[in-house]
Amino acid sequence: MKTAAPIGIFDSGVGGTSIWKEIHQLLPHEDTIYLADSANAPYGNRSQEEIVALSIKNTEALLAMGCKIIVVACNTATTNAIDMLRNNFDIPIIGIEPAIKPAALQTHNKSIGILATKGTLSSALFHKTSETFTKDISVVEIVGEGLVPLIEKGALDSPEMQQLLKTYTAPMIAANIDYLVLGCSHYPYIIPQLQEILPTSVTIIDSGEAVAKHTKKMLDEKGLLSAEKKTPKLVFYTNTDTAILAFLLKDVESEIHIEERKF
Ligand code: DGL
Repeated sequence: MKTAAPIGIFDSGVGGTSIWKEIHQLLPHEDTIYLADSANAPYGNRSQEEIVALSIKNTEALLAMGCKIIVVACNTATTNAIDMLRNNFDIPIIGIEPAIKPAALQTHNKSIGILATKGTLSSALFHKTSETFTKDISVVEIVGEGLVPLIEKGALDSPEMQQLLKTYTAPMIAANIDYLVLGCSHYPYIIPQLQEILPTSVTIIDSGEAVAKHTKKMLDEKGLLSAEKKTPKLVFYTNTDTAILAFLLKDVESEIHIEERKF
C-alpha cells in the first residue's frame, strides 16, 4: 500500500488534537488528516449504537480521502466501537483507552482516580481493562459531565470549568489518590486547571504518547511509514466553526490548514 498516504485521525471534536500533537511530534514527516466531529459532540452521553454509527461515518470519510491508517483519537469511540470498526474495515485501526495500567503499576498509595465520559466508564472494554489491572487498588471513577462542551467552547479558564473540576476532584482528593488518569482526549487541555486544584503529589497521566508510539509501530510493521523526509500536509476538517481548532492549534498555525466541511 501507499506509504505516502496520510494518517487519518478522528475525534468527537477538538480534543483529539492533543493526540494529533503527539503523533506529529513522533512522526514529523507524515501527512495527516484530522476530522473534528464537533457537530455531534459530545459522544459521551450517546448510546453505543449512535457512537458506532458516528465512528463508521468518520472512518468512511477518512478512507474516502485515501488514509493508510485510522487513529480513533477518542476514548469513548474506542471503548464503544473499535471492535466494530476493525471487523468492518480492512485497514489498521489504532484506538485510545484510559491509561489505567501504568497508573495501577506506579501508584504508591494504592489509590488512583479516573476522569472520563459516561460512555467510556460504562463500556465493556473499560470494565475488562480495569478489572485486569486494578485488583488490589482502589479506583475513584468520575464522569466528567459537562467538561467536553466547555472545552469545545474554548472555556478552559471559565468559572464553570473551575467549579466542575473542584466537584469532580473532591472525592479523588478524599481518597488520597496519587495518580489521575485522563480518560478522554479533550482533557489534556485542562491539565493546568486540574493542577491548580490537585495536591502536587498527584501525577496526571494520559494516553497520547502511547497512542503515537503504537501508531508508529503499526505503520512500521505494515511497511507503511512515509519514505520521504518532506514537509508534511497537515489538514484539519471540522463540521462546525473553525475558531476553537485554530485556538487549540495556534502553536502550529503556520504549518497547518484548517477548514470547515461536511462529513
Ligand atoms: N474526546 C472524547 C473522548 O476521548 C470526548 C468524548 C465526548 O465527545 O464526549 O472520550
